[in-house]
Amino acid sequence: MGKKYICFISGDKIDLAAISREYSEFMLQLLNNPPVRHYLANRYPILDDNIENIIKDNLDKKEITLIIVDKSSDNPAGFIKLDEFSWANGRAMITIALMPEFQNMGLGKEATNLIIKYAFNTLGLRKLCLEVYAFNKNAVKMYKNLGFVIEGEYKNHSLKDGKYHTLIFMSLLKK
Ligand SMILES: CC(C)(COP(=O)(O)OP(=O)(O)OC[C@H]1O[C@@H](n2cnc3c(N)ncnc32)[C@H](O)[C@@H]1OP(=O)(O)O)[C@@H](O)C(=O)NCCC(=O)NCCS
Repeated sequence: MGKKYICFISGDKIDLAAISREYSEFMLQLLNNPPVRHYLANRYPILDDNIENIIKDNLDKKEITLIIVDKSSDNPAGFIKLDEFSWANGRAMITIALMPEFQNMGLGKEATNLIIKYAFNTLGLRKLCLEVYAFNKNAVKMYKNLGFVIEGEYKNHSLKDGKYHTLIFMSLLKK
C-alpha cells in the first residue's frame, strides 16, 4: 500500500514530505504551540494566510519547507526549512521544530542530517547558518553534535516573556 503523504526525502525513522495545504492545520498547531514557539522567533499568532504564504514562498523558491513525518505512524511530527538563500555565497538559514510528543527521540537529529545532505549535495550550498536562543541548551547541543560551530552571539537581543535573551549564531561549512 502506498504512503499517505508525498515523500520528498526518505530517511530511517522519518521521511521529509513536500509541504501542501493538507498540512495547514498541523503547521498552525505547531507554530502556535506555546512550548514550541518558546524556542522560535515568531512573536505573533500564525494564521491561515501565513501558511498560505509559506506555500507561496516555497513555490517561488524563497524557502524550502519540508514536513517531518514519523514513519512509524505516518503522522506529521514537525517541520524543517531552508530560507534566506544567498545563491552567490552558497548560504542558507536552517530552522527546525517538532511537536513536544516527538521530541528527544532522535527525529530532529535525523531530519537535520537529511537536510544538510540535501543542501550541500543537491542544492549546491556550502554554508548553513542558524540562530538559536542561548537558553535552548538541547538544540545547541544537537547542532554541535552535527558539526555546527558557534560563530558569535547577539547579546540581550530578543525580548521574550519579559526578558531580553541572547541569540547564538551557528554555522556549518561543507567539508
Ligand atoms: C531542538 C529539536 C529540533 C531537537 O530535536 P529532537 O528530536 O528533540 O532531538 P534528538 O532526539 O534528535 O536529539 C539530538 C541531540 O540533541 C540533544 N538533545 C536533544 N534533547 C535533549 C535533552 N532532552 N537533553 C539533552 N540533550 C538533548 C542531544 O545532543 C541529542 O543527541 P544524542 O541523543 O546523540 O546525545 C526539538 O527538540 C524541537 O523541536 N524543539 C523545539 C523547537 C526548537 O527548539 N527548535 C530549534 C530552534 S533553533
